[in-house]
Amino acid sequence: MTKLEKIDAALKEFYEQSQVSPRLMEAILYSVHAGGKRIRPLLLLETLEGFGIELTKAHYQVAAALEMIHTGSLIHDDLPAMDDDDYRRGRLTNHKQFDEATAILAGDSLFLDPYGLIAQTDLHPSIALALIADLSQASGSFGMVAGQMLDIEGEEQTLTLDQVYTIHSHKTGKLLAFPFKAAGLLAQQDSAILAQLEEVGLLVGTAFQVRDDILDVTASFEELGKTPQKDVAAQKATYPSLLGLEQSYSILNDSLDKAGAIFHKLEVDRDFNPEKILKILERLRLHA
Ligand code: IPE
Ligand code: IPE
Ligand code: MG
Ligand code: MG
Ligand code: MG
Repeated sequence: MTKLEKIDAALKEFYEQSQVSPRLMEAILYSVHAGGKRIRPLLLLETLEGFGIELTKAHYQVAAALEMIHTGSLIHDDLPAMDDDDYRRGRLTNHKQFDEATAILAGDSLFLDPYGLIAQTDLHPSIALALIADLSQASGSFGMVAGQMLDIEGEEQTLTLDQVYTIHSHKTGKLLAFPFKAAGLLAQQDSAILAQLEEVGLLVGTAFQVRDDILDVTASFEELGKTPQKDVAAQKATYPSLLGLEQSYSILNDSLDKAGAIFHKLEVDRDFNPEKILKILERLRLHA
């Protein structure tokens, strides 16, 4: 099985444990198996392999838990009260396919289930606990949810670059930084390495939202699987709206360069094999 297939298998196995509401389960699986790129889980798994770790079922379960939170964030992000989107991953958004109440509840499940899933793994309890603490920090009132609040408050406002950075680093950056830090924890790396992984995570995480904002302006529905040009319509605070496209491309590519340099340093200092992770980072580049 490929990594993607094993991530899917971990998600499937978790939800097949029991069945209370078939409708809730259908709505959850509709979005979980909608063809997301799975970049967050892949960053986790490739970073682990870079440290020479042989992947086990528990690693896939942590990867699946992360993808669950991400998917829940997209379901809620698309709701009429939030970004009000009709399409996601090339198909109808969850609330369009089902209804708003079902979409809210599917998101709720996808936010709460991951902690149970990590607790179910055969990881050493101290590692599982550290991952649960980190995932909560990245997701909730100190991470993605807080960023989403700032994003909504920032609509129709003229914000400073610092303010837009704060929005991006929270709504998207934290959940993209989690896989790097989590890989460090799972590979039992020392605090100096964990700090470098955190730095990489922040660079890649923020770059990822800049990329998403550029694509919102430049890409088509077919390329995105979601409606483009939504940010201008909603008067969102984005890098392209504040700095223009050209500078946004530079910030994206510079951040990826800096992240790459940290991985090269880890290769020299700590025998890290950066080959596969660098391939993923290269795929995130965009040019005018
Ligand atoms: C989209 O994330 C939303 C942002 C956080 C920018 P992805 O681009 O990873 O979406 P999927 O999972 O591939 O659909
Ligand atoms: C999404 O940002 C951030 C999330 C926490 C989901 P966007 O609102 O720009 O993501 P898209 O463009 O709808 O995927
Ligand atoms: Mg949004
Ligand atoms: Mg959105
Ligand atoms: Mg967007």
